Amino acid sequence: MELKGLQEFSYEKYEQEGNIFINDTILDKGYKPIKIGEIQHRETEIDIYMRHLSSAMKNIVPGNVFIYGKTGIGKTMVTKVLTAELETAVAKKGFGLKTIYIHCKSAPTNVGLLKIINEALAIETKEENVKYNNSFSAYWRNFIRLARVYKGIIIVVLDEIDALKDPDIIDLFCRVKECDFLENNVCVIGITNDIKFDEGLDPRTQSVLCGRVIVFPPYNANQLRDILTQRALLAFRPGVLSDTVIAVCAAYAAQEHGDARKALELLRISGAIAEEKKNAQVTENHVILAKERMEADKVTELIKTLPIQSKIILASCILMQNNKPQTGRIYNQYKEICIKIEITMLTQRRVTDLLSELSMLGLINAKAISLGRHGCTKEVSIEVTPETAWNIIIEDDRLTILRNNPLANPRQQILYDVSNEGQEENIQKSYLRQSN
Ligand SMILES: Nc1ncnc2c1ncn2[C@@H]1O[C@H](COP(=O)(O)OP(=O)(O)O)[C@@H](O)[C@H]1O
Ligand SMILES: [Mg+2]
Repeated sequence: MELKGLQEFSYEKYEQEGNIFINDTILDKGYKPIKIGEIQHRETEIDIYMRHLSSAMKNIVPGNVFIYGKTGIGKTMVTKVLTAELETAVAKKGFGLKTIYIHCKSAPTNVGLLKIINEALAIETKEENVKYNNSFSAYWRNFIRLARVYKGIIIVVLDEIDALKDPDIIDLFCRVKECDFLENNVCVIGITNDIKFDEGLDPRTQSVLCGRVIVFPPYNANQLRDILTQRALLAFRPGVLSDTVIAVCAAYAAQEHGDARKALELLRISGAIAEEKKNAQVTENHVILAKERMEADKVTELIKTLPIQSKIILASCILMQNNKPQTGRIYNQYKEICIKIEITMLTQRRVTDLLSELSMLGLINAKAISLGRHGCTKEVSIEVTPETAWNIIIEDDRLTILRNNPLANPRQQILYDVSNEGQEENIQKSYLRQSN
């Protein structure tokens, strides 16, 4: 018996299907240029950075560096490329240099940090890496032991350094020579986009870390266009990008943030949409759709990560949206949900504060209106698609009761469209009904 239909499935078919990209991962955030020459529009910063690190060529430990600038503007990428190239150049001179890169968000504790550093040094020196139960002093002693064996220059890159739970460890690294632990200091490169990071530091740490500060400015539209063009040449099939696509992506990204990562993402999603639609070219329309998709993803993330109380308040706003949603009414609705899910009820004043926060996040708009002699109140409108927001809110396991058990309020009920159950629009637009 012949199995009909199954012939349709073949890897060759899927491979040929995509007519837009050669390799879309070139536009991913993980991709980095191999050589300094491939980095565009960072000449000034690279010049200062390399000059500073170049003392390593004479086997002198460079002073600490602090790299500051907004997200997506090449801080991580430039640091990785420059330190890799420095390792090679120093090795040619016959000296040793080891760069240990740490993304502090993934290792925010001192012990976590030392684990990574010790592991790297143990591999480098072929020494045994002793493991301890979370004892900081034991890890520190092991670090000193391994660093003594290594002898070469150690550069520790602390990326997103603001995520460190105890940044004063930097002070310890910078005093290893002073305290006679090691013959040489460790060079610390701190990277952050948090302008206020150094304010929270111990003054000693502040002075050792912030000796040399290099500020990376955001890119402008022309610079983003060059960065996108260079990557597009590798990522897209020849001729599939219509003329204006790159300029439009660059203009959007420059307007909003000057962030190369977002610009590259916009370009990648535009291409993906063209491919989904089986179009032969990527056009400005795809960029507009991609931008909408990115914004929707942002809203989803924003709502998903709201604290439970804010989710309930947003849910209350949605339920009340057709019913002159002033703060008092929203508060009553909020109280009802709290009772149903058995959660602590906040005061009206606190709920008003949280409404202001939701408004600052752009999820709602709260307009102050005067009630004459009776003071004033706020009238709330929803700034995002209510159905989408609702569906994200009810994904929260603590709010399951809102999923299949509409609020049994005699005045308002949510009308679930049972026939569409499980689908995106599983509540009808008109969830509110006045029953009296
Ligand atoms: N000058 C540049 N040339 C090429 N690509 C760049 C440039 N600047 C940033 N990028 C790209 O943007 C993305 C974000 O850069 P990254 O260094 O991670 O930003 P930051 O660390 O400042 O947040 C990287 O994936 C990189 O590919
Ligand atoms: Mg970074």
